[in-house]
Amino acid sequence: METNIEVIFKNFFYYKKEHFFVEDVSVKTIAEKFGTPVYIYSKNYIIDRVGEIKNAFKPINPLICYSVKANSNPEIIKILNNENCGMDVVSGGEILKCLKAKIKPEKIVYAGVGKKEEEIISGIKSNILMFNIESIAELQTINLIGKKYNKKISCALRINLDIETDTHHYTKTSKKETKFGFPIEQITYILNNKNHYKNINFKGLHFHLGSQLKTHTPYIEALKKLKIFLDKIKFIPETLDIGGGFGIHYKIEENIEDINIFGRKISEFILVNFKKTQIIIEPGRFIVGNTGILVSKVIYPKKTPHKNFLIIDAGMNDLIRPALYNSYHHIISEKKENSENILWDVVGPICETGDFLGKDRLLPENLKSKDIIIIASTGAYGFSMSSNYNGRPRCEEVLVDKKSIKSIRKRENLT
Ligand code: LLP
Repeated sequence: METNIEVIFKNFFYYKKEHFFVEDVSVKTIAEKFGTPVYIYSKNYIIDRVGEIKNAFKPINPLICYSVKANSNPEIIKILNNENCGMDVVSGGEILKCLKAKIKPEKIVYAGVGKKEEEIISGIKSNILMFNIESIAELQTINLIGKKYNKKISCALRINLDIETDTHHYTKTSKKETKFGFPIEQITYILNNKNHYKNINFKGLHFHLGSQLKTHTPYIEALKKLKIFLDKIKFIPETLDIGGGFGIHYKIEENIEDINIFGRKISEFILVNFKKTQIIIEPGRFIVGNTGILVSKVIYPKKTPHKNFLIIDAGMNDLIRPALYNSYHHIISEKKENSENILWDVVGPICETGDFLGKDRLLPENLKSKDIIIIASTGAYGFSMSSNYNGRPRCEEVLVDKKSIKSIRKRENLT
């Protein structure tokens, strides 16, 4: 396994002499032009990631529906549209964003346990590909709305297969205690009573096991369970959506299976057991996670007899993952320093002890005010989970394409 930083950055982010670059542009130039904190994304890295996932799953040629919640910046949605991706959405707001970015509605799948009537209507009116349904009450609601609009609505039933996954408790979505999907018994009941739902076209099934999964094994476990169940009830789905969740490297030394292994193992099983079924996958993090960085400046270094704190201008309102999941993001200095490294707690300016970006990180001893710090692997669930907490404006987002720099969202102005 690779043990250097390239496992995170490939060659789209790198040190050139002593400064850090995104494609052909120095991070320092962007920080000077747009201020900090700023999210920076590498357009060609995003395209490269889509290529990787297409290649890995080539044997089954799935419809790749990018999970918009990971990063919903319209420019990123447009890049993925150009790469022929569809979209996985979870709200009326995300449907609207996709339509504005000219995504074809027949490539949009819509999941979520709490779709409101107006959101369902917006999906129906725009003719999206499919609703992934999660409860009997939702099924009844969609059926009624379908009747009102005189349409047969294409749906997949989201199944909760009670699969254990090796990930943070908050992002496990396929244990039977979680709110997601139907238990097997209810699927049997619904499919045996299809005539109760005359305005629903039961096209297929959906599952999403969890996020940041390190190996393909839970997918195979789920597919095996599903196959046994479907053989029993004699239902051949036209479509099968196996969700997202493919893990990425946050730590250099982390053991995350290569996407080609995910792709090969899952494809092998599907080619034997789901020959006639169109497969959909919904990757979010895999596509954008490592393709973005959060760039911040040191406000004050604060050394005490007990701890060294690096107080930076990005906080938990810009990146909540460390505070919420205790998640790890690699942190480096923009300038390749020669000074000795010491342990720092990298913290934000927000009035909560949970406002940290990284604890006990080895960074140069001589870091001072205005020095630039880079928080890696923040392209997914970074900006999209940001807030105005503590009266802080949401930050700028910048896209780099070789030499070109484009602001893709202006810094908020809280006046
Ligand atoms: N499909 C469904 C139905 C989902 O709920 C999700 C993510 C995805 C696809 C995409 O999963 P991905 O490929 O990105 O793992 N905020 C958390 C992650 C929450 C994921 C929610 N659902 C984090 O920062 O780790």
